[in-house]
Amino acid sequence: MSLHVHRSVPGPGAALGSVVFLHGFPFNGSMWQPQLEALPAGWRGLAPDLRGFGGSALHAAAGEVSSGSRIGSRVALPHEPVLTMHRLADDVAALIEEEGASPAVVCGLSMGGYIAFALYRRHPSLVRALVLADTRPEADTDEGRENRIRMAQSARESGAAAIARAMLPSILAERTIADDAETTDRVRSMILATPTETIIAALAGMATRVDASESLATMDVPVLAVVGEEDRLTPPHVVRAMADRLPRARLEVISDAGHVSNLENPAAFNAALAGFLAEL
Ligand code: MLT
Repeated sequence: MSLHVHRSVPGPGAALGSVVFLHGFPFNGSMWQPQLEALPAGWRGLAPDLRGFGGSALHAAAGEVSSGSRIGSRVALPHEPVLTMHRLADDVAALIEEEGASPAVVCGLSMGGYIAFALYRRHPSLVRALVLADTRPEADTDEGRENRIRMAQSARESGAAAIARAMLPSILAERTIADDAETTDRVRSMILATPTETIIAALAGMATRVDASESLATMDVPVLAVVGEEDRLTPPHVVRAMADRLPRARLEVISDAGHVSNLENPAAFNAALAGFLAEL
């Protein structure tokens, strides 16, 4: 499986290490452009389009995308693929190895964070440190899963446009929607560019993800937890509770930002990331 990768401008090598950026749902690696452009000297940035998103194909070979568990098959119909977080994490592990980027700093936003948890669980030796942005360790609640079933049905009937209409008001801060047309359009365009099949497959995969809460205490790597001050999906108190249970974490709250904090306030996000990288 070969993923399409967005890269930082090649500098004088990656003497200090590599940062692998994992995008949220239903976006693609281009959401990390402001971070790829501003990485401190000596760091290399890799932002893959995860399987099925952006320029990466959903199916690499027959049988590589699993069909659903009981929960997954209530979200994705029996003939529809399911993109599990562990399948996506294994793709990222292969990328880290192919690129000689191990051990990497892994920075995941929201679904990217769920994948980062799966990567650490399955391939801990590939992970040097984590940035967990606007994400949570818990699995979906029953209500969350019912919502995924409704979203999948709406994607099936009306495509990505219905998902963009439903998600934008809850993922972006009110100020972003009112005053920042460029960022709002950028997020909308990424959603519209995501194939319906991928949207349904990832919704089913997120609905079946395992709860990472109990393993937080054993995650013995430096962690930067980041959250937009106005994130309504993973509010600051949720991300703070996650950071409190991680042995080596600290929290940065990003002002003037909702759930897509790296795009809504890139200057503050980049400053937090640079500060964290400097401590490693
Ligand atoms: C994301 O931004 O990746 C999604 O909000 C994650 C989710 O739906 O749980």
